[in-house]
Amino acid sequence: MSPSTDLSFTPLSDDFAKDPYRYYAALRDREGLTWFEEFDVWLAARYDDVSEIVLHDSMVRSMDQIADADEIAAQKRAQNWNDMPHHSRFVQFSLLDSDGPVHDRLRKQVFRLFTPVMVGRLRDGIQAYVDGLFDRLAERTEIDFTGDLAAHVPGHIIGRVLGVPDEDCPKLRVWSENIVQYFDIDRSDARKALAEQNTTEFYHYLLELKAARAVDPRDDLLSLMIEAERTGQMSHDEFISTAMLILMAGHGSTIDVLGSGLHALLMFPGEMQRLRDDPGLMKTAVQEMFRFEAPLPFFHRYCTENVEIGGQSFERGTKFGVLYGAANRDPAQFPGADRFDAGRTPNRHIAFGRGAHFCLGNHLARLDMDIIFTTLLKRFRSIELAEPEVRYKRGLSVRGPQALRIRWQAS
Ligand code: HEM
Repeated sequence: MSPSTDLSFTPLSDDFAKDPYRYYAALRDREGLTWFEEFDVWLAARYDDVSEIVLHDSMVRSMDQIADADEIAAQKRAQNWNDMPHHSRFVQFSLLDSDGPVHDRLRKQVFRLFTPVMVGRLRDGIQAYVDGLFDRLAERTEIDFTGDLAAHVPGHIIGRVLGVPDEDCPKLRVWSENIVQYFDIDRSDARKALAEQNTTEFYHYLLELKAARAVDPRDDLLSLMIEAERTGQMSHDEFISTAMLILMAGHGSTIDVLGSGLHALLMFPGEMQRLRDDPGLMKTAVQEMFRFEAPLPFFHRYCTENVEIGGQSFERGTKFGVLYGAANRDPAQFPGADRFDAGRTPNRHIAFGRGAHFCLGNHLARLDMDIIFTTLLKRFRSIELAEPEVRYKRGLSVRGPQALRIRWQAS
């Protein structure tokens, strides 16, 4: 037995936040999947098991397919996920949490704004916005890279995709953070009230903007979805929930991977130098940042029939926890998995998921990263950590530094 197999799985602990990868290695070392009582799930940590689950025809995200309305209501009460009228209408239901024909219909409505070509059209605008942020910070010798810089980018860019005026984008950041915080394990009533209140405010904001776009359509996602609703492809609630999902899925995750990506370069200074010497490596380096610290490390699936995963049998209705963060460090798939390699090829990481729910925003997230890191390395000849220890957020659903204080010197 390797020492790592002695670890019990404690995803809320500070020790887990410090280094989840020891825990993930312990899970991968165990035979089969691991039952995790606290979440009522079977955890899959090996790359092959995670891939098999998310690509399996009998796996779904939504409970509707395996439980009746009373069972679902009871589960929601048990998780303090009830009595939230707007949250249950627009957040608990979404494109991400639907399956089959409903999922396909909703995804199809928005897909075309997220293709590489459409996302590529945003490049100049993102570059100009990022240049402006760097200009404002360049005078300082020390910054918090996540709070002062990264935190301002994705909400702003996703806001533009949606069609939110630039001056309102800071509000998106607050709404997104206050709604998303309730997805993690701490489901206190105070956090619940915050999630509901912010969902309500965001809803009213979207209602107003929708009315404005209805009489003055633009080249943006809200206008595209207004047309989809007009032609019967989307209901009003689906319109709102899709707009909310697109912000929430892409906002915090991008901030987190920007922070952990820079942290990785600082921990592996040889790789940062390699990237400075050969900027052509930026694409593979960005891919490696997603592999190395998957910002959304944990998702779930239910099976709609009896299934066999990794040689183990499971009954219909079983819930699985798929650990993308653990799969991405599986040495059976990635040689030297705990080493950051800016030129890693091949790199079939699973940070964006796989199969029907494969991340819609992956090209946009990669473009943000590419622009920010290219600009950072060009404009600053030296970057170093300004604190001895970087603390990461607690929990299983997100992975990213709480803050990343750096000192830098302009080129
Ligand atoms: C920065 C990093 C990001 C990561 C790591 C990430 C990761 C993921 C993952 C793992 C899934 C699939 C969940 C599952 O398997 O159950 C997903 C779905 C999704 N993501 Fe992302 N995402 C990111 C950024 C974005 C951005 C920028 C957007 C949009 C602007 C976005 C929009 C979506 C949407 C709409 C879905 C649902 C797709 C569906 O169910 O068909 N994501 N994302």
